[in-house]
Amino acid sequence: MNKKNILITGGAGFIGSHVVRLFVSKYPSYNIINLDKLTYAGNLENLRDIENATNYTFVKGCITDELFIHELFTNKSITHVIHLAAESHVDRSISDPLIFIKTNLLGTANLLHAARDTWKEATEDRIFYHVSTDEVYGSLAMDRELFTEKTPYDPRSPYSASKAGSDHLVRAWGHTYHMPVVISNCSNNYGPNQFPEKLIPLFIHNIVQKKPLPVYGKGENVRDWLHVEDHARAIDQVFHRGRHGETYNIGGLNEWKNIDLIRLLCDTVDKKLHRPVGSSQDLITFVKDRAGHDLRYAIDASKIEKELGWSPEYTFETGLEATVDWYLQNQDWLDRVTSGAYQEYYDKMYTQ
Ligand code: NAD
Ligand code: TYD
Repeated sequence: MNKKNILITGGAGFIGSHVVRLFVSKYPSYNIINLDKLTYAGNLENLRDIENATNYTFVKGCITDELFIHELFTNKSITHVIHLAAESHVDRSISDPLIFIKTNLLGTANLLHAARDTWKEATEDRIFYHVSTDEVYGSLAMDRELFTEKTPYDPRSPYSASKAGSDHLVRAWGHTYHMPVVISNCSNNYGPNQFPEKLIPLFIHNIVQKKPLPVYGKGENVRDWLHVEDHARAIDQVFHRGRHGETYNIGGLNEWKNIDLIRLLCDTVDKKLHRPVGSSQDLITFVKDRAGHDLRYAIDASKIEKELGWSPEYTFETGLEATVDWYLQNQDWLDRVTSGAYQEYYDKMYTQ
């Protein structure tokens, strides 16, 4: 069998760093090439523990750069792609939508084009895997309905529309050129290394600092939370065993109303910091709702469970507690991210 040269895009980001670590450590015979532009969300400090592994290479670059991506596919003889690089934060997509279109749509098309150009008709031992979001399906009402793989696409934010569009591009390349593609759509992730603009790390940071906790609207919106390591394990299964042309939904059957989750987070941090339990709830501040705020996301993950035997290993209680512990024990990581100091790490490590 040929050597697998796997391009993982966005590997310095939150989910990408967990996927890179899992693949580098679990599969020593694979070459893992981590391509990342190191935007504000990319942080190579997330990968310090594996950065010297012999089967790991980091390449700094942009997925929208046509010539550079083509040369990368050729020079590194890329045989597989796990594509995570994206602009990923809904609030940023509302204030600055065009970069989402550029990165998520043009970037994905550019990768598909380079794969098609260099792989030609080859399909054996090749895969283009797009890591996507459940937000492409739109918003659910407060009943028991769940997103399945057959739910029609109905994206409602610039972020989710750009991810929906990139899913369509991947399917179009699969259909038109018979390229071996696979897509997974996952619910909200939480865990170590998440940039503190997303709900859970931002609120842990603010609780520790005794800063206000800005709850959008009434805090009634519902999200389905999955630990990032469970997502990485699901990606491992889909990559190795997913059927070409298929879509797999990934989620933890773990729905939380924002306000309930925030109260639990306050109490968990209070316990850990030996503060009177409940005191941090005073920091909760209801603010203007997000524009177009989707009410509820919830995933039916029965297909990946049945077909690939995947199910989450963390319960929400163990996962959230471990996550709070991680952020409390890695305050320097949070400080360096919030101050911007993490961006100097690349210069020290990779440019002389
Ligand atoms: P993230 O914002 O933490 O990381 C994104 C990474 O992509 C960063 O390292 C960034 O530097 C890199 N990147 C951005 N633009 C780039 C470009 N033009 N060229 C090369 N690299 C670039 O995102 P995340 O939360 O880890 O999400 C990763 C993927 O998973 C995204 O595609 C996202 O849509 C998807 N996803 C995320 C979640 C979630 O809850 N976070 C859930 C489901 C799916
Ligand atoms: P977020 O982590 O941004 O993920 P997404 O929007 O992709 O689901 O937000 C999770 C939920 O928390 C979402 O309903 C918006 C809400 N939220 C707040 O109420 N306040 C905040 O400061 C943030 C960042 C999010």
